[in-house]
Amino acid sequence: HTPWPGLIDAYRDRLPIPADWEAVTLFEGGTPLVPAHHLSELTGCEVYLKVEGANPTGSFKDRGMTMAMTDAKYNGKKAVLCASTGNTSASAAAYATRAGLHCAVLIPSGKIAMGKLAQAVMLGAKIIQVDGNFDDCLELARKVTADFPEVGLVNSVNPARIEGQKTAAFEIVDALGKAPDVHALPVGNAGNITAYWKGYSEYYADGITTARPRMLGVQAAGAAPLVNGAPVANPETVATAIRIGAPASWNGAMNAKEESGGVFRAATDDEILAAYHLVAAKEGVFVEPASAASVAGLLAARAEGWLDSGLTVVCTVTGNGLKDPDNALKGMPEVKPIAVDPVAVAHELELA
Ligand code: F0G
Repeated sequence: HTPWPGLIDAYRDRLPIPADWEAVTLFEGGTPLVPAHHLSELTGCEVYLKVEGANPTGSFKDRGMTMAMTDAKYNGKKAVLCASTGNTSASAAAYATRAGLHCAVLIPSGKIAMGKLAQAVMLGAKIIQVDGNFDDCLELARKVTADFPEVGLVNSVNPARIEGQKTAAFEIVDALGKAPDVHALPVGNAGNITAYWKGYSEYYADGITTARPRMLGVQAAGAAPLVNGAPVANPETVATAIRIGAPASWNGAMNAKEESGGVFRAATDDEILAAYHLVAAKEGVFVEPASAASVAGLLAARAEGWLDSGLTVVCTVTGNGLKDPDNALKGMPEVKPIAVDPVAVAHELELA
């Protein structure tokens, strides 16, 4: 049994990276594909959760960041910059530290989950709050990095990010021994759906699989440009990670949908929060609200007959629930003090 080497060394032959480049890594990837018994029962399908919150900084961004930061380092960048709803900034901060590069992050003020902000602070990024949303931050990041070539842009518009993130599809096929019939995931800036489709397509082209999944891309109803077919000027959702109105990888997402015979759907905040609670309470997997959008979309798709029973379905849950403690506690009734004596505890547990 050899330890997991990180995704670059696990899939180096499938990544555009020179053989003599040493990976900037925190040993990301190799995340669990967990059978979701309750969701399988609800849908009559065989449902799995790809638990990306198990990555080193708690989200799938680490897959892209190991590639982007290795690339930045060997291309002589002095610093990196990104726009972020939180997870990208946490991941960029961590991998920049590993690479010995300065890191600055542009975040929409007041709209990032507390755990993600804490990560960026602890990991030493320069945090710049922008009076605007993610789309404004990304526009700014593109401008600055165009003017200063020594600063690398590590958003998913950087092709190295997509290359790293496509490995999640490889891992799923390697684990199942085939491609799933349907793959559901939350969509914000649309880099990840583009990356999954690239991964599935590469395995298919090489004859490793005989089919590719239909892609089910789920957006928050208040931030659903791909569902509406037009950018959203003022995106709003409880799922702050995907509070994005003008996805940069629009074409990649459309291509994934069309080539796969897939669909984009919107999930309301209520549906997202219901799925958020369900995945935690019934599957034992604590994810952040944006991640639960994939589950909400899946349940709605099943209810509407888009999804037949008996299929193999993978749902990517993109980020760890610990990143957003505020939303977790909001759903709780007021915490009542419990008297600390064994009888009272037994009573609380309904044993007495
Ligand atoms: N889920 C989570 C937890 C995310 O953080 C993101 C994106 C997505 C889903 C959507 O992925 O953008 O590739 O379609 N977060 C970015 C960030 C925007 O800044 O952390 P996408």
